[in-house]
Amino acid sequence: MRARIYLPFILTLIYVFNAAAQTGHAPPVAPVAATRHNLMPVPASVRFNPGRLPVGKSFSVAVRGQADPRLQAGIDRMLRRIEGRTVMELPRGLAADAASATFVIESAGAGKAVPSVDEDESYTLEVSDRQAALKSATAVGALRGLETFLQLLDGDRDGYFIPSVHIQDRPRFPWRGLLIDVARHYQPMEVLKRNLDAMAAVKLNVLHWHLTEDQGFRIESKKFPRLHTMGSDGKFYTQDEAREIISYARERGIRVVPEFDMPGHATAWLVGHPELGSAPGPYTIERKAGIFEPALDPTREEVYKFLDVFLGEMAALFPDAYLHIGGDENEGKQWDRNARIQAFMKEKGIKDNHALQTYFNKRLLTILKRHGKIMMGWDEIFQPDLPQEVVIHSWRGPAALAEAAKKGYKGVLSAGYYIDLIFPTAQHYAVDPIPAGSTLTAAEAAHVLGGEATMWSEWVSAETIDSRIWPRTAAIAERLWSPRETTDVEDMYRRLDVVSVRLEELGLTHEKNQATLLRRLAGGRDIAPLQTLVSVIEPVKEYRRYRQRPQTMLSPLTGLIDAARPDAGAARRFNAAVEKLLSDAPRFDSHSHQVKTTLAEWMSAAPELEALIDGSPALHEARPLARDLAELGATGLEALSYMSRGVAPSAGWRDARLAALEQIAKPKAALEFPVIASVRQLVVAASEMSRLKQLTPAEWKEQVKTLAAPPAKQPGN
Ligand code: ACM
Repeated sequence: MRARIYLPFILTLIYVFNAAAQTGHAPPVAPVAATRHNLMPVPASVRFNPGRLPVGKSFSVAVRGQADPRLQAGIDRMLRRIEGRTVMELPRGLAADAASATFVIESAGAGKAVPSVDEDESYTLEVSDRQAALKSATAVGALRGLETFLQLLDGDRDGYFIPSVHIQDRPRFPWRGLLIDVARHYQPMEVLKRNLDAMAAVKLNVLHWHLTEDQGFRIESKKFPRLHTMGSDGKFYTQDEAREIISYARERGIRVVPEFDMPGHATAWLVGHPELGSAPGPYTIERKAGIFEPALDPTREEVYKFLDVFLGEMAALFPDAYLHIGGDENEGKQWDRNARIQAFMKEKGIKDNHALQTYFNKRLLTILKRHGKIMMGWDEIFQPDLPQEVVIHSWRGPAALAEAAKKGYKGVLSAGYYIDLIFPTAQHYAVDPIPAGSTLTAAEAAHVLGGEATMWSEWVSAETIDSRIWPRTAAIAERLWSPRETTDVEDMYRRLDVVSVRLEELGLTHEKNQATLLRRLAGGRDIAPLQTLVSVIEPVKEYRRYRQRPQTMLSPLTGLIDAARPDAGAARRFNAAVEKLLSDAPRFDSHSHQVKTTLAEWMSAAPELEALIDGSPALHEARPLARDLAELGATGLEALSYMSRGVAPSAGWRDARLAALEQIAKPKAALEFPVIASVRQLVVAASEMSRLKQLTPAEWKEQVKTLAAPPAKQPGN
């Protein structure tokens, strides 16, 4: 395994040594892709042609056919965004003469009054050097096409332009969602709105609004006001606000599916209505993260009467056809301890808690059907005699989803799209609701409706939530929209960098919030050294944060861990540069220059970092990280120095460096360096150089090609 990592480097060195002795050796020129573009998600079919449509001050838009107000508003938003990007004031209003307009939009119909899972979102976009033409069956299809148009906008020395192109586009999956948990941490209206804008920009079409939890009941109930008044600390959405969000989403062709999590995850319901619980109470709003015992009592008729009224009220408020009842992580501990519930189960022949929950779900299903809703719930509700019309939301994996699909259930995938777990984008990107090699028949595959990224909000505030959702969710959006074969990770990251910056024009704060947090931590002093540190650290993954740094829902989320981001871009670039250094012989010098520069920056940031940390008690926990950063820099530079001098270090040096790296690999302040594996490779490569120099030029030449594999992933953290 290890040999795979460092052998290419040695081969590289030998290549370089040999190349130096040769004359006239020109490195191969990488072919430039003719169709390189910044579209995300990649359209179903895209063909670039020679030529371009200039975008200048006279840029005009005409509409043919259906003029849905949503389309008019969408065109206006597009024009304002073009203005913002190009700093050109464009003509207001629509052009009367389609023949001479720059951009002609033709939508055959308005589409559904309430956005629906079977909405036709397809469109074609034809751009020539004279005119752009967008055609769609519905206003929603046209809105999708407008986002593509905006992504095509480019500029060069001759000005702004749209490249000539023919695009025929439609989504691979009809259900492409983002779950926002507003219960663990309430999110203000503007947070939801800007995220809806971002969703539309990458063609997501479902906001899954996770409204109730142990930690908060966030929707106004006029029928049972104690639910939100006692269960929310006053942080809830009024029904008018909910309608405002639904309308804002509809304007952008986005559905809003509400979730009321039952029978578990229900503490906040019980604060105002302890009589619904399976233990007497009293209950208080939960402040911790985790799985808790309080659960609705499925054996009492009063509970169903209550839910009938409450769900009837919510069914009227939320126009979407689907309503999510949660159903996850109910361990039934309160049920086990309740003698009356146990007697009920015995009397009815209900054998265990799963069966009791299925009984509850069936009662809910009857209620929801009466209110005209399709029921949806998490994996756990998938029990043997669950009626087939219920939609399964899988957080356990594509296999569970496939199993449900084979049995005739529709399903949506979220396993693999848990963006709260801080995994790198590429990991989410690799997850496919219907992976290659799936054994589902076409009819079964049609049951897989799509997927949803899940923004569970234990550790996000209004200030940090965008940085946990974006830009990674754009790559998930691509997985759900684009053809399955769209899997080039390097190109995904290249386009993601462009998309990320463009999302800022919608008011998203995922890029800029970091500097704000760092300035606050630094008390107004220069944050440059902190930025160097934070650019190569990431919060610990999965659920380690809570274990390493116990906090509650009331804790401030303004620490270094909150400023650090998933998939740290500078770390990714460093790792890529090391990978190239170890495998790409022709450009050895330029790669080693980039790697050296970065390592030197880490070293030189350390003294200033120490000074900043001294002056900010909130940063004291970062002290070991500052030392680690300096040590990583020094170690990497030493390794490079051995390599460039062609001198092998002693085994003692190698062992000491590797042991030090083991210590650095331990998270501190719940933060870790995603660059350690690369520095380790530099150390190992420097140490093995003399052995590998024994290879003949013919051997290394051949092996440079075959062994230039990427470095192994950093071992689990
Ligand atoms: C879940 O993550 N409990 C749905």
